[in-house]
This record gives sequence, C-alpha cells and structure tokens, in this order.
Amino acid sequence: MIVAKGLDGIVVEKTVLSRVDGQQGLLIYRGYHIDEIAKCTFEEVCYLFLFGKLPTAPELANLDQRLKSHRRVDPQVLSFIQQAPAGEEPMALLRTAVSMLSGYLPRVEDNSPDALTENAIALISQVATIAAAISRVKHKQAPVDPDLTLSHAANYLFMSRGERVNDVVSKTLDTALVLHIDHGFNASTFSARVVVSTLTDIVSAVVAAIGSLKGPLHGGANTAVMQMLLEIGELENVEPYVNEAMAAKQKIPGFGHRVYKTFDPRAKHLKAMSEAWGKRVGNVKWFTMSEKLEALMWDKKQLNANVDFYSASTYYAMGIDPALYTVIFAVARMVGWTSHIIEQLADNRLMRPESEYVGPEGLKWVGITDR
Ligand SMILES: CC(C)(COP(=O)(O)OP(=O)(O)OC[C@H]1O[C@@H](n2cnc3c(N)ncnc32)[C@H](O)[C@@H]1OP(=O)(O)O)[C@@H](O)C(=O)NCCC(=O)NCCS
Repeated sequence: MIVAKGLDGIVVEKTVLSRVDGQQGLLIYRGYHIDEIAKCTFEEVCYLFLFGKLPTAPELANLDQRLKSHRRVDPQVLSFIQQAPAGEEPMALLRTAVSMLSGYLPRVEDNSPDALTENAIALISQVATIAAAISRVKHKQAPVDPDLTLSHAANYLFMSRGERVNDVVSKTLDTALVLHIDHGFNASTFSARVVVSTLTDIVSAVVAAIGSLKGPLHGGANTAVMQMLLEIGELENVEPYVNEAMAAKQKIPGFGHRVYKTFDPRAKHLKAMSEAWGKRVGNVKWFTMSEKLEALMWDKKQLNANVDFYSASTYYAMGIDPALYTVIFAVARMVGWTSHIIEQLADNRLMRPESEYVGPEGLKWVGITDR
C-alpha cells in the first residue's frame, strides 16, 4: 500500500475553477491568467466563478444588487459577536458566526443549483459584514450597518472603520481580495469539498473551510508574517532573526509552498502593492524589511515568498489590524469555497480515502482489574 502523506501530488477531482501550475508559477482563474484577473473588480470575478464567464454590464449590475440585498446579517448574529469572550481568536469567532447563518439563509438544506447559487451569494456578502463586525467589536466599537451604495471592498472597509475610505484604499483591498479568491485544491477548499461530498449543506462545508484556513500553515500565515515583522522590529535585526530561525529549524511564515516550486504569481502583485503603500504612507520600513527577508530566504533555502508574505505589509500600511488578516482572506476565499461546493455537488462522489493500519492486531480482552 502506498501512503500519500499530505496527499502530495494526488489528483482527486477535475475542476474548471482554477489551475495552479507549481513548476511555471502559473495561476489561472477559469481560463484567465492571474495578471489579467488582477484588472477585474471583486464583483466581476465573483460572477466569473459563479456563472462561468466575465459579466456584461447588466449581468454585473444584477449580481451586485443580489450581493447587496444580502448584506445585512441578523442582529442575533451581531449580538453573538458582541457577547463572545473578549480575546477570542477572530477566525474562531468568524467560524461560529458563519455557522449561525444556517438559521437565517433561505433554503439552506436545499442543494438544487438555484438554491446553492443564492446561498453562495448570501454567504459571500454576509461573511464581509460579519468580518467587519468582528473587527469593530475587537476594537470595542459597535458594528456599523452596511452601506448599500458601496462596492463589496469599500463597504467592508466602511463597516470596519465607521467611515468611508478613499478610492485608493478600497481599490487596494478589492485587488487583494481578487488575488485570494481561489487556488486549486488548497486545504480549506478541499475541506469544503470533502464535507459537502456527504450531501450535507453549504454552510457546514464553508464552516469547515474557515476552520482549515485558520491554521498557520494555511491562511493564518498572513497574521504570523506581520507578528514576525513587528517582533524583528528593525532592518538590521532581519539577518540575525533568520539565522536563528534557521539554526532552530523554525519555519518562517510567508515562505514556501506545497505546489509552487517557483515564484507565487500572486506575490508579485502584492509586493508591488506593499511598496506603493509604504511610499504612500511615508514608511517603507516594513516593505524594506520584507524585501531583505525575501532575499535571505532565497539565498539560504531557495524558498520564495507566498501570497501571505507581502499581503501582511500591505494591510499593515493600510492601517488594518494584523489580527484580522486571515479573516480578510476568508472574505475573499468564500467565493472559491462556494464555487467549489457547487462544482462538487454537480458531479458528486463521496470523498472517502483509505488508511494503512499500522497498529497491533490479535489482542485479547482482559478484565479491568487484571490490566
Ligand atoms: C506551506 C508549507 C506548509 C508547505 O510546505 P511543504 O510542502 O509541506 O514543505 P515542507 O514543510 O516539507 O518543507 C520542505 C523543506 O523546506 C523547508 N521549509 C518550507 N517552508 C519553510 C519556511 N517557511 N521556512 C523555513 N523553511 C521552510 C522545510 O523546513 C524543509 O526543509 P528540509 O528539507 O531541510 O527539512 C511550508 O512551506 C510552510 O510551513 N510555510 C510557512 C507557512 C506559510 O507561509 N503558509 C502559507 C502557505 S500559502
């Protein structure tokens, strides 16, 4: 029996949603290279994933309207966030709050294509409202009602900050969200597909995905990157930090990838955004430190920066609390998760791999007093 530990190199399904080519450093969303996709808005890419093509103007307006119609979440969900124990990890809070949505979504147990699409749109919309409320409550502020005139990204920032942001800020977040929407059979997407392959409901599947994304080997790495940069503190501390981490065989968050053996094509865009934001706010320190770390990691381990590395310094320069970076990742990835759930259900086969048992056999029962 061959054990495929970590499922390295195992192909479990076909997908039309995204292609990750680790040798060439390619990421394709439904036929479009990520460099082309980076020119689109979040709502356009959302349409592409849910409906299979880039929208015309009326089609986009229609999806935009549908997303906005779901923006408000039930007050019970917001009040749960407000009453949660102070200091609860934001992704843990997000996981529970999204789980509560099953009580409020239309036809949540209905896995017909129409109901799935409507619930996907609702989840994509409402995860942003919940994420913003988590940010508000973490900073001891009351949640803010959504603004139905704003785009998804601008409204998320409005609900988080309690005031409208300028177009440069919202455009940066919009593009960052687009870059995080999907990425093949990553751990959280695979989790969602495994869960829904039992024919359970869409909310159960995305809740599993949120739990998976939370881990530091996956989406949790972006928060860990900023914590590390803050701990390093100054440019001159970067090299000693890396040397110590290498000597202790510690992993540096934001580097390495299971699939990419070359540059992560999303990192190029985020690196440019990080530099531009450093210059915009008159503080390129975090970008410069990041560049130095990147060069050292290449020299010492031939490891490249991944998507989580430069998103950290970009968000930091934008004034976003590092504790919330993974939550923002989830806001974007909800599009990928729900699209994969719909794809899985369209041609489902229960995911049920096997394991090789390596424990003992033939043991005999003995009474408790004789053990
Ligand atoms: C993402 C990740 C889990 C993929 O790793 P993987 O395919 O399982 O690769 P491995 O963990 O087996 O690592 C292979 C080698 O590279 C090293 N390596 C991988 N990522 C590393 C990192 N971030 N820092 C230092 N060394 C790293 C391992 O120590 C190992 O070295 P060795 O052969 O000398 O023991 C891994 O790169 C990692 O933990 N990165 C940090 C977390 C992160 O940024 N996650 C977000 C991914 S988008």
